Formats: sequence, C-alpha cells, structure tokens
Amino acid sequence: MADQDGIQDTQKYFVDIPMASEPFTLRGSNSRDWGFKNRLSNIFHHETGKTVMLAIDHGYFLGPTAGLERVDLSIVPLLPYADTLMCTRGILRSTIPPTFTKGIVLRSSGGPSILKELSNEEIAVDIEDAVRLNVAAMAVQVFIGGEHETKSVHNMTRLVDIGNRYGIPVMGVTAVGKDMVRDAKYMRLAARICAELGAAYVKTYYVAEGFDTVTASCPVPIVIAGGKKLPEQDALKMAYRAVQQGAAGVDMGRNIFQSEAPAAMIQAVGKVVHENRNPEEAYDVYRTLKSETK
Ligand code: R5P
Repeated sequence: MADQDGIQDTQKYFVDIPMASEPFTLRGSNSRDWGFKNRLSNIFHHETGKTVMLAIDHGYFLGPTAGLERVDLSIVPLLPYADTLMCTRGILRSTIPPTFTKGIVLRSSGGPSILKELSNEEIAVDIEDAVRLNVAAMAVQVFIGGEHETKSVHNMTRLVDIGNRYGIPVMGVTAVGKDMVRDAKYMRLAARICAELGAAYVKTYYVAEGFDTVTASCPVPIVIAGGKKLPEQDALKMAYRAVQQGAAGVDMGRNIFQSEAPAAMIQAVGKVVHENRNPEEAYDVYRTLKSETK
C-alpha cells in the first residue's frame, strides 16, 4: 500500500484543458471495447492505419510449402519487418519466439487438406487456446459460392460470437474456389458478407478492375492476399494499387517468403503500405537491400 505519510495537496487539474478523448479511426471499429481496439492496434499501425501482415499459415492445408520448409530459418529473421504474423498455433508454439510482441493472427479454421474439398472446414481452435496464446485476431476462411458455403460462414459467425465475448477480432478470409471468377463483383459480395456478419476486417484478393468498389462497399478494413508468386516489381505494383484504392495493407505470404530476397521484399512492401512510396521507388529499395545482403 502507498505510504500515507507526506501526502501532497492535489493541484494539477488543468481546468482550462478539455479532457482528451481520442477517436479510434480504424474503419468500422469505433464502437468496440478497449481490448478489441487494443488488439486491432497490434495489427494496424496506429499512425498509418495500415498493416504488413506476413502470412505463413499455408501449411494448414498445403503441408511444407516452398519457402516454409524451415520456418525457423526462413521466417524468424523476417519478424522485425512484419507488423503482424498470421500463422497456425502449431508453428506459433513450436517455432515463433515468444519475445515477438507484435500481433499474432491465428489461423482458426481448417480440416481438409489440398487432397480434399477445401470448403469443408471446421473451426480448428478453442477460444481458451486463442486467449492463452494472447492472439490479436483469429482468421477464418469463408467460401462464398463454395460447396460448403453455409458451413464456412457459420464457422465465422460462431468465432465472431466467441471472439466478441473475449475482445478478440475475427478476420474473414475470402477463399475463391478454382472455378470462380476473381472479379470485383465476387470480391464485393464476399467481403461485404464477411463484414455484415461480424468480421472486424477482411482479406480479399486484389482485382485489376474495380478494386476501389470492393473497399468502398466494405464497412471494415480490407487487406489483400499476395497470391501466387509474381516478379517482385509486379507484386509491389499490386500492393501499391491496392493501397491507393483503399486497402488497409497486405496479408502477404508467397510474394515475400518465396522472393529471392525475402527480407528486402518485406521492407519494400512496407514502403508501399506505410509510406505511400510508388512501386518504382519500392523496387529500388528492394534491389538496394538485396545487394547489401549478398
Ligand atoms: C492461405 O493459405 C492463407 O490464408 C494465406 O495466408 C493467404 O493466401 C495469403 O498468402 P499468399 O500471399 O501467399 O496468398
């Protein structure tokens, strides 16, 4: 207990200064509780409102994906450059140092491997474990138009309900089936359904035509997946266009960890996302950093 001797008179009331009440500017989240906002702030940078989320959860249905064979060697060195890491609890517990204090977005759905129907997922983590792991958000795949559409949407809404109880946001991950058209119409539909049903933010793919309508019609932040590996300059162009058209950053995996110089690439992506640097400038950063690491 505080020492009761020598208690000083209180006088610093600053009666002329209105009490600060900072708005929480991340799209769609202002009415959330403190813990929820605090977790989102561990994903989206408080100054830029954006994130470079490094996605390494591919093994949950693909097994040891190229670039992720040894997460300890390929990914751990990249952690200082990521705002957030998206991974499974298996990799988190086994390989990610607990000294990593930025946000963890936990892959929280799963079930089928690449050998089966991918939309047939279940919730794959208990909320108690998500709390125990101190995660910033839970990620769940939503297969709009897929064979198990309703089940995957229900996975998300159940996680939203459970997450809300504990102040843990849910990221809806729109999964585009092989037979579906990746266009703005589909992305608008999928992203909006995720947001309407409670996702705190949504991951979609970038589409060349009309991506601004996808972000405009989604009341929560959108981050883009990187998708298959592209030449570095093209991946930077895609990230730039997405951010300029309203994306709140990237959830990028293969275009970083399959790059010839992953550390250089993630830093170049950071320039595009947080500093609005154009793709040419960011590519210069990539090349310079790459040459320095040789
Ligand atoms: C799918 O395996 C995961 O949700 C990935 O996190 C997502 O596709 C982002 O990774 P990439 O940039 O490699 O597409």
